Amino acid sequence: MSMIERIKEKARADRKTIVFPEGLEPRTIKACAILKAEGIADPVLLGKPEDILREAEELHADLTGVRIVDPEFDAKFSEYAETLYELRKMKGMTREKAAEVAKDPMYFGIMMVKCGDADGLVSGAVHTTGDMLRPALQIIKTKPEMKIVSSSFLMDCPNKEIGEDGLLVYADCVVVPSPTEEELAYIAVAAADTARTLCGVAEPRVAMLSFSTKGSAKHESVSKMQRAVEIAHRIAPDLLLDGEMQFDAAIVPEIGAGKAKGSPVAGRANVLIFPDLQAGNIAYKITQRIGGADCFAVLQGLQKPCNDLSRGCSVEDIVNTAAMTAVQAQNG
Ligand code: ACO
Repeated sequence: MSMIERIKEKARADRKTIVFPEGLEPRTIKACAILKAEGIADPVLLGKPEDILREAEELHADLTGVRIVDPEFDAKFSEYAETLYELRKMKGMTREKAAEVAKDPMYFGIMMVKCGDADGLVSGAVHTTGDMLRPALQIIKTKPEMKIVSSSFLMDCPNKEIGEDGLLVYADCVVVPSPTEEELAYIAVAAADTARTLCGVAEPRVAMLSFSTKGSAKHESVSKMQRAVEIAHRIAPDLLLDGEMQFDAAIVPEIGAGKAKGSPVAGRANVLIFPDLQAGNIAYKITQRIGGADCFAVLQGLQKPCNDLSRGCSVEDIVNTAAMTAVQAQNG
């Protein structure tokens, strides 16, 4: 069974409610019909019921049993607007503005998650990453022990010899453009947690990547990764984590043994931490496009799971992301 099929199985075992702010979007409607029919999650579509049902009919998508909520006319609307005002008044939010903003399906969906009326949120078939991330960061907020929200890409590689039976977890590839050394340490700890709780990796082995292995090159950017390693050791002393090291030293046993002798991680890393967003984002696309890996993205570090889609996503991508969101919600 592939990694994503295992995640779907886990999702089915304890079904969660996932809200979709882009309720009228055709791929989203089709995905929700599949999620309901296959028992992966209980989807909620946001929008005007008559419009969504008309679109579903045209798409031949069966939405039987799928909840459709029109934000403006929902019984919870006033409660969400008031809670939004309370949460953001220190940042200049007024009651009037909150009542306006809560009509936006993205904010309404985030408020459903915040108030416990949905377990997670999936969006991004239409909106940009920032459109969803900003309200999630402002309202759902970061887990206190994490300090920062970031992302992991689960790379399911055709070569099953590398990583964890072909799985490599890459971070951060989406959120933090220029992480500090402390942020890199938190990204590493969060990615190890994602490997463990979402992918079932019993022993995450984290490599902090660089163009240098164990001091082979000297540069401020190398020193930064070395300091990130020290901080990560302090935050998570039991985590198998090492660096700085080059990509090949991290995943090829012979090279790891040669360049980083005695490292508990080198040559057998399954979680790879990139120095910044440029490196991480480029690396996942190379692994996907040239390496032939299947890739699945999740946000990590939020108090409740919200996940972003690529605007070019397929129906299958939406189903997969909802399944991952549901499993993240199971893990709290
Ligand atoms: N973790 C936790 N909180 C954060 C983070 C973070 N990483 N970043 C920002 N915040 C908080 C801020 O503290 C602030 O909270 P507050 O309003 O309560 O004080 C709030 O979020 C908004 O912060 P801003 O600085 O105003 O937000 P910004 O405009 O910088 O946007 C964002 C944040 C959206 C994450 C930005 O950093 C970004 O655009 N990142 C890159 C996203 C992207 O385009 N990725 C690549 C493409 S996706 C792909 O290829 C699959």
